[in-house]
Amino acid sequence: MKILVTGGLGYIGSHTVVELLNDNYEVVVIDNLSNSSRDVVDKIKQITGKEIVFYENDVCDSDALEKIFTEHSIDAVMHFAGYKAVGESVREPIMYYENNLVSTLHLCKKMLEHNCYKFIFSSSATVYGDPEVLPITEECKVGGTTNPYGTTKLMIERILADIHIANNKFTPIILRYFNPIGAHPSGLIGENPNGIPNNLMPYIVRVASGELEILSVFGNDYDTPDGTGVRDYIHVVDLAKGHLKALEKALKDEGVFYYNLGTGTGYSVLDLVNNYEKVNGVKVPYKIVDRRPGDIAACYADPSKALKELGWRAELGLEDMMRDSYRFIEKQKESK
Ligand code: NAD
Ligand code: UFG
Repeated sequence: MKILVTGGLGYIGSHTVVELLNDNYEVVVIDNLSNSSRDVVDKIKQITGKEIVFYENDVCDSDALEKIFTEHSIDAVMHFAGYKAVGESVREPIMYYENNLVSTLHLCKKMLEHNCYKFIFSSSATVYGDPEVLPITEECKVGGTTNPYGTTKLMIERILADIHIANNKFTPIILRYFNPIGAHPSGLIGENPNGIPNNLMPYIVRVASGELEILSVFGNDYDTPDGTGVRDYIHVVDLAKGHLKALEKALKDEGVFYYNLGTGTGYSVLDLVNNYEKVNGVKVPYKIVDRRPGDIAACYADPSKALKELGWRAELGLEDMMRDSYRFIEKQKESK
């Protein structure tokens, strides 16, 4: 069984490729390295002892896709490629709509031309906007996204459903991720964004390692137990495993399916800070600052549909996430 993974050298894609190889799938990756590097190919081999076929190409490049689909008989596609920085998407909306939408359109078109119908898509809890109820189920209203990045996810979900209406064989499984953090336990792959991180976990990691001075906690006056924002942090390896379960479903059923991939438990910003300090024996200095515009107080999943229909649930806890994030950064430092 051969799976095409777009964006397979990125953070979540690379962890999923590892799980696919461990499960004996053959993997073809297309990635333009806009937010990753080629050495991830070797890291994946070190972890799994297996090779992938890698194309350094853009998913918006229809000719490159044609070449891949001609050279390989692809059974299913996992589509991770895309831009994902919320703030950047506000400054560069055209770049975001173009990359995220055009890549998806070209990819789906090429799949249909080559009779490939099984599609796993990286969506986001951001499609729920500011949730009306917690925990969030897949039946909750979507919409009300507050930035172009989130809107691309919403639009792509719609596009995929429309393609299914026109051709029932086309089976998109839409995975709405909550907040992926952590790294592979080998410490070989993980998330290390360029520049100053926007997201909480990479910021904590850099403050703890002394690269950044202090963490700004965006508000402590939310209606949450300690006043700081609450999110459903999920270990990236659990998330990756969810994709394999989704793939099994896609291979046996036809339809459009939506699943929350989260743990069901919310943790606050200070929970993460305290846990990171405790698990890794380091200090994370922080100061409370104003709320970040666009942030919501709390967001966590009801993951029971994924358990019922996919047989998947997150297994790893916050301590695993903290320990593995730390180990990845320490390994990165050693290798410099
Ligand atoms: P990432 O940036 O680490 O990985 C994306 C990969 O896609 C990168 O390797 C990048 O080089 C590649 N890429 C981007 N545009 C491309 C293109 N046009 N052609 C070929 N390659 C391209 O991001 P990630 O955190 O691994 O996220 C993967 C997917 O999951 C994204 O679609 C993202 O929007 C979605 N998602 C991520 C999060 C999160 O918090 N990380 C949350 C919800 C959803
Ligand atoms: N936070 C801080 N200080 C920081 C960074 C974040 O206090 O330096 C707080 C935020 O206010 C929020 C929490 O930490 O309460 C988490 O913030 P992140 O930026 O890590 O994550 P978000 O929940 O805001 O957004 C993330 C992704 C989105 C995705 C969403 C849901 O960035 O792309 O999860 O999946 F849509």
